[in-house]
Amino acid sequence: MCSVTSRTQVAIVGAGPAGLMLGHLLHRHGVDSVIIENRSEPHVIERVRAGVLEQGTVDLMRETGTGDRLEREGLRHDGFYIAFNGSRHRIDMAALTGGRAITIYGQNEVIKDLIDARRATGRPLIFEAADVSVGDLQSAQPVVRFTADGVAHELTCDFIGGCDGFHGVCRPSIPSTAMRIFERVHPFGWLGILADAPPSSTELVYCLHERGFALFSMRSTSITRLYLQCTHDEDLSAWSDQRIWSELRARLTTHDGWQPHVGPILQRGVTGMRSFVAEPMRYGRMFLAGDSAHIVLPTGAKGLNLAMADVYRLAFAIAEFYRSGGEQLLECYSERALQRTWRAQRFSFWMTTMLHQGDGHNPFDYRRQIADLEYLFSSRAAMTSLAESYAGAPFDHE
Ligand code: APR
Ligand code: PHB
Repeated sequence: MCSVTSRTQVAIVGAGPAGLMLGHLLHRHGVDSVIIENRSEPHVIERVRAGVLEQGTVDLMRETGTGDRLEREGLRHDGFYIAFNGSRHRIDMAALTGGRAITIYGQNEVIKDLIDARRATGRPLIFEAADVSVGDLQSAQPVVRFTADGVAHELTCDFIGGCDGFHGVCRPSIPSTAMRIFERVHPFGWLGILADAPPSSTELVYCLHERGFALFSMRSTSITRLYLQCTHDEDLSAWSDQRIWSELRARLTTHDGWQPHVGPILQRGVTGMRSFVAEPMRYGRMFLAGDSAHIVLPTGAKGLNLAMADVYRLAFAIAEFYRSGGEQLLECYSERALQRTWRAQRFSFWMTTMLHQGDGHNPFDYRRQIADLEYLFSSRAAMTSLAESYAGAPFDHE
């Protein structure tokens, strides 16, 4: 097989939100990069993933020229509901946080916008790369090897951005003696559907119910996204459309008669629940960002936003290196990114515990959860704390 040797400043492994945004930010700092993705472009675009953008993510996209469609099509939500005991209770996020909000905009759409932005720069974005591996990580010239269109490539660089998600190759290439893993796998999952039905509420509804947690969300003014707590290995074939809708109705319907609109189910899947952190988020000249370094529980929708906060920080640190030769920001990248990660872990874990039926759940736990929620809605301080974490702190790079 013929082989090609090339060079760039930053080799980015993975074209998810983390990799694509890292490439985009580096471009804006005048830093060259190559993005290497092992899946096809349609696969990367079509994967159904998250859809809630924190204010920080929205601001980042807007400020870096990738926010036009988001501005037009994104649905800004100033608050959200938590339902329990048959009633919906609203958290007025914007009022409690001085105007911070979330925006509903599918990860698919984020990916499309970032791919378009990448194409406009003319910088390389390689899909369907096979046999991707990273090496010489402790040297000043690490290398990424891969095969594309039957040609073997050896790409040397100054830095590697390990943005290849939880199942990627970057994190496993770090010797286990140089990394510590913190992990908890939870005994339940979410059965999620995308339904061709207009949302019946303008804002999200998180629901505590004796039958298990449920979540009402959306992707647009015509598509509803719904989730049901289920077992971690739930057999999807046991769930007919009718069973899914009747379980959703049983959990979500409130005393005032509110419930989701029913429509054809466009997509369905079961998501496992994992909390995971790899420390540090650096090995030599390779920096991990996004899901390759951490997974948070989906309650609270922090995953995508955490990935964006990581690459914002990393791009700044790399740009500073090229500008001044200073490595101080690179040195503290991992520590600072982990601070935000653990805050998101804490929040997602807390929200999950407050709303799900965990291991050994019994009526005592349910009453305790109700008391937790009643307290929450009786206290402006408690609601402010929830709203602050949900809206997310501004991104920073110091
Ligand atoms: N070589 C190249 N690319 C790879 C490899 C590999 N060996 N392994 C995985 N990838 C690619 C995946 O195909 C995917 O496109 O890396 C990308 C990682 O993207 P994500 O999994 O989306 O992770 P990340 O960019 O960190 O995004 C954060 O937050 O909302 C959550 O899980 C959601 O994906 C979201 C994540
Ligand atoms: C989603 O719409 O997919 C979603 C919304 C809120 C969450 C998690 C997922 O907390």
